[in-house]
Amino acid sequence: MKVLFVASECAPFVKTGGLADVVGAVPKALEPLGVDVRILLPAYPALADLLRRGETLLHLDDLFGGPARLVSVQSDGLNVILLDAPHLFDRAGGIYLDESGTDWHDNHLRFGALCTVATRIATGQLTSWKPDLVHAHDWQAGLVPLLIKLAGSDHKPPCVMTIHNIAFQGLFHWSTRELFAIPDEHFTHEGAEFYGHFGFLKAGLAYCDKITTVSPTYAQELLTPEFGMGLEGLMQARQQDLSGILNGIDLDIWNPKTDPALPAPYSVHNRRNKSRCRAALEQKFSLQNDAESPLFCVISRLTQQKGLDLLLEVLPALVERGGRLALLGSGEKQLEDGFLQAAQDHPGRVGTFIGYDEELSHLVQGGSDAIIIPSRFEPCGLTQLYGVRYGTLPVVARTGGLADTVVDATPDAIKEGRATGIQFSPIDAAGLNDALERTCALFERKRVWRSMMGNAMRYPVGWEQSAPEYHDLYLRTLSR
Ligand code: ADP
Ligand code: GLC
Repeated sequence: MKVLFVASECAPFVKTGGLADVVGAVPKALEPLGVDVRILLPAYPALADLLRRGETLLHLDDLFGGPARLVSVQSDGLNVILLDAPHLFDRAGGIYLDESGTDWHDNHLRFGALCTVATRIATGQLTSWKPDLVHAHDWQAGLVPLLIKLAGSDHKPPCVMTIHNIAFQGLFHWSTRELFAIPDEHFTHEGAEFYGHFGFLKAGLAYCDKITTVSPTYAQELLTPEFGMGLEGLMQARQQDLSGILNGIDLDIWNPKTDPALPAPYSVHNRRNKSRCRAALEQKFSLQNDAESPLFCVISRLTQQKGLDLLLEVLPALVERGGRLALLGSGEKQLEDGFLQAAQDHPGRVGTFIGYDEELSHLVQGGSDAIIIPSRFEPCGLTQLYGVRYGTLPVVARTGGLADTVVDATPDAIKEGRATGIQFSPIDAAGLNDALERTCALFERKRVWRSMMGNAMRYPVGWEQSAPEYHDLYLRTLSR
């Protein structure tokens, strides 16, 4: 089976968040099941090396204002098709944001062009490779199902659309549809229209064959006004076609036994070296060495979604209780400033590192005792899964994929040897504060903590269950 992935990011080549990790991991997990995945990605400057190594498949004289080409390349176990369109993607700045931190003014064109090219591949313009199915990820790939529907071709493969985060919808001026020759009849409440705007994600969800999201709980939450972000009506209408398939992680990249970012390897059977990782982390974040104090960490975008304002509120109490914190993150200025200030207020007890640093994120996972994720909503979340794999117990808000992947340390779960972390709700400062208090108390019960670490490190967090679920879904979609 041949499947075309369409996405705006893919690890290890270009990444701003979990979308990249998942797009880079699923194809490898599907390969043993006989699925041949090619990933269509924009050729941003970060991919210049890949581009040079690739082989041109197709030239396009004019793709919305400039020449473009498709380049095929294999790297890191992935088959990638790069969309080389310098006028759209070869620029300094972020992949979504310009250097001043605002959305690129032509994002509708950039990602609309990605969808246009995806449609050409889908409908068979590359004679060498014709996909049986298209798997579109998030709003940046949202136009593909509709463009395929409108294409004048005999080969129209079905589309699966995955929602990684419904908060990002790709909403643009209503006239955007003209650029892509989308007839008015599709600019309706049932189609691509969203309160007078043209919605890329909405178009995808309205016209695709199947919808998935990245955890079963988030699939349920999407049906409600609290989480649906205005698309709950559409989600309800398409409930029959909606399913939640839990994210996994790449067990080769995230393995404390072989991780080159750790000063010393460890495993579930031999955990002694975790304390050497902790010492390295303490040094890096200027934290006091204190074996009796639990070392908490955060690795996150600093945005409203992630609930880290709640952590700022309860941080003095955590420090008072003896806890320490290492935070690696970047995002909203107010939160960055808040955590920088906290590090000044609590020298040796709170360390803040503002920035995005993939390698450092491994050391933070390896050296911490627990990872805090107080998200207001979380489609799946990956850092709790990395935490579980590294014996760094997750303290999580009970929502979305966090609820599905962490076994709360209730007395029963502890007794039965199932507990892997701590969940809390309601998701507010008091809830988080209680959870941190519980965690500190568990940390003092050394035997219990050690056995929870073992449960966590043995917990299945790879793709062994979810890859076959995607495969089954593809088969069902093809036999529609
Ligand atoms: P989201 O995609 O919503 O940001 P996820 O938990 O799914 O949340 O994925 C976040 C990914 O980004 C993880 O791989 C995490 O390790 C990584 N990450 C987030 N912030 C940073 C940072 N400041 N430095 C390095 N990695 C980060
Ligand atoms: C989104 C979500 C996150 C999820 C990731 C990968 O960025 O916010 O919860 O883990 O996508 O699916």
